[in-house]
Parts: sequence; C-alpha cells; structure tokens
Amino acid sequence: MTLADVLPTMGRCLHTRLEPDIWPLGTTLGQDGLVFAGVPAVSLAAQFGTPAYVLAEDAFRLRCRDFRAALPEMEVAYAGKSLLCRAVLRWVMEEGLSLDVCSAGELAVARAVGFPASRILMHGNVKTPEDLKAALAYGVDRIVVDSLDEIAELGTLARYPQRVLIRVTPGVDAHTHKAITTGVDSQKFGFPLSTAMDAVSAVLAQPSLRLAGVHCHIGSQVSTVAAYEETARRMVSLLGAVRDRFGVVLRELDLGGGYAVPYLTGEPGFDLVGYAQRVRVAVSYTASLLGLAVPRLTVEPGRSLAGPAGVTLYRVVAVKGSFVAVDGGMSDNMRVALYGAKYCVRLAGRSSCAPLRTVTVVGRHCEAGDVIASDVGLPGDVHAGDLLAVPVTGAYHHSLASNYNQVCRPPIVGVRDGIARPLVRRETEEDLAARDVG
Ligand SMILES: Cc1ncc(COP(=O)(O)O)c(C=O)c1O
Repeated sequence: MTLADVLPTMGRCLHTRLEPDIWPLGTTLGQDGLVFAGVPAVSLAAQFGTPAYVLAEDAFRLRCRDFRAALPEMEVAYAGKSLLCRAVLRWVMEEGLSLDVCSAGELAVARAVGFPASRILMHGNVKTPEDLKAALAYGVDRIVVDSLDEIAELGTLARYPQRVLIRVTPGVDAHTHKAITTGVDSQKFGFPLSTAMDAVSAVLAQPSLRLAGVHCHIGSQVSTVAAYEETARRMVSLLGAVRDRFGVVLRELDLGGGYAVPYLTGEPGFDLVGYAQRVRVAVSYTASLLGLAVPRLTVEPGRSLAGPAGVTLYRVVAVKGSFVAVDGGMSDNMRVALYGAKYCVRLAGRSSCAPLRTVTVVGRHCEAGDVIASDVGLPGDVHAGDLLAVPVTGAYHHSLASNYNQVCRPPIVGVRDGIARPLVRRETEEDLAARDVG
C-alpha cells in the first residue's frame, strides 16, 4: 500500500505538512505553496523560469558549520565535484573549509574566487598532464596520486617539492550503490593495500615529491559509521607499515567523504557526532598500539553539505494517466538513471487538499528511463501548469547535468533572507550553438 492509498482514508489533509528532514532549512508551506528562505516558489519560477535549481545559502553554510563543530581538530575539505560555482566556493572559503578538486576545470573555478592554494587538494583516478600542470602552477597544497604512471608524470612535471598523498583502497565495503562504492579492490580508484608499498616506494624515489600521507574514500551515500571506523584502523595500520618498511613517518590521513543524507522522509541521517567520536577513538587507539603520533585528519564531505540545501523546481507540462510529465528530467537529474535514486515530489505553487494519488513524475527526454520519481503521491488535481518541487537536489545534479536533446541546463538561484539571486544563469541555445563550429 502506498502513501497515496493511506492518506485519503485518514480524513486528514496530511500532505499540507512539510517533511522537516528533507527540505532545506527555512522552507515553509503556505496557501500559495512552498517558500524557500522567504522566497515563494511561484516568484522564483516567474523570475527565473523552470526547471531551476534553488540553493538555500544558510542551509549550506549551516552544514559547513556542523562539520567544523563536530570535527574541530580535523581539516574539512569540501568536495567541489558535488556542486561547484563561484558563489558556493566563496561560502566554503568564508566558512573556513578547505577544498578538494579533481580537474583543471574545477581548479579554475577555485582560482576565479582566489581560493587559497594552501587549502586545496587535487585528486581523481585520471589526472591528465593538463590537470597536473594546472595544480602545480596554482601551487595546490596536496596532490593525491592514483597510479604509478601518475607518480612518474608528476615527478617529472614538478619543479619544487610537491606534497602528495597516496590514494589507497582499504578493502572496506561501505554497502552503498555499486556505482559509488570506491573502497574495495575491484574498482578503478587508488592502490589496493597489497600494492600501496609500491606506490610509497615510487613517490619516495622522486626527488620533486614529498610524501605527506595517505588518502582513501570508501564510497558515497555511506550510512554506517562502522565502515569508517574499520577504514580508519586499516589506514593507520598502513602508516605503521610504511614506517616499519621505509623508516618514514607520515603525518596526514585523509579519510575522504561519502556521508549519507536522507532523500526521503524518515531515512536515517548520518550520525556525524558518533562518527567524530568513533573515528577519533579508532585512529588514536590504533596509533597508540603502533607507537605512532595521531596523524592530522582530513575529511571531504560533498553531498552532505550541498545536497540538502538544494531543491529543483519543475513545471508540469502534461498529465497522462498516471504519468505527470515535467519540463526537465534526466538532463538535470542523472541520479535516478545512474543509481536508481528515489525522490519525494511536492506541489510547490499552490495548496491542495485533493486526495493524493500515486503517479510517476517523468521528464521530457527521449528515454523510457527518464524518470524523476516513481510511485509518489501528488494531489489528485495536479494539472499542466502546476509547479512541482523536488528536494535534496543540491549535490550531483547541476554537476552531472547534460545537454541531452539540446536542452539548456537550468540556472542555480541562491535564496537567503527573502532575496533570490542568480548564481549560475540558465544556459541558452546561443551557448550551445557557440560550440558548434563545424
Ligand atoms: C575522493 C572523494 N572525496 C570526496 C567525495 C565526496 O563524496 P560525498 O559527496 O559523497 O561526500 C568523493 C565523491 O565521489 C570522492 O571521490
């Protein structure tokens, strides 16, 4: 039985209440629909069109503060791949976080806002020579090396000692979706523990590289602290093994990101405070057993900062049987097709007490898999022209967006204290045509 079956029978109009755990801080629901940080969805749609990504600045900043408060002794580096634009990087900079980038393109955005190079790391399983040159030219603090070929390439390109971390796959299965599981040996990232020593030896042999520590990232949308605890133990043990074999004490341990957020109401959030306590204990206990000083820890949250701050607004174009078709789709939200992700959808531009009915919200693209949300409850009177909102779309939506069907990518609109401002403008057909030079 679905939510839509149950609610009408309860004689109450429950869908006029907002689920507090999935909407950005400051979202309210009134007679005229949803209001984000004091800005009505209707006004946003009128001013910026649809589809549009709405980003609540305070919600983003608050998550940055939560991380810094829970992990005061750790470096918190925002994973820029989750959502990158100049305004967001200014917020990250102002909140005192570091930044991780994984391409020259991401670094260019950091450069554009003057993000301090001393707070930037670059990683990625493939860094082209151009990526590495851009990182060296800007003087990023750490480059996370991912293959022996890359170590050789970087060793040749670096002119001054460049600090590096070695990316290791600790062999911990975080039990998340296969496409975002990165901590086990059968995937493309980093060095398995069994060959990590070869990487250490290769870095130590390069006079232009300084080995600072090791890095790992076990996956994304990871909900259990235990996987991180086990990872921390294995990674500290690796630091001990490096000392024993090479006589080199590495002082930095980067544990990556991957902290889960709820996409549907009632899904558990990530226990950040529990994480802080248990990882701290795992690191210090293992270090003390091995007679090592506690390393400096870095974490790299992306989704958990950006995801819950974002909402996508769509306009309903057609209602066909149980399909509600909107003016966006897989070009602005790839996560359904990629990972089978599930979303909640709400009427955003008006209130309705019509009984809910179960519908599937689909996109405009020429793919049967172009679905936004299957089997969700929407008021039975939903019709063409209605505004819909989908929460938790701040991370890996704009950054994964495409131009499939020559559809222009939506704008990102920042909202704060009743004011909306464009952070990234809507792409235009002229933008698309400008690249077509044949
Ligand atoms: C190396 C690394 N660090 C951090 C992240 C951020 O992960 P999340 O956005 O799930 O926190 C990723 C995501 O893929 C990653 O590959």
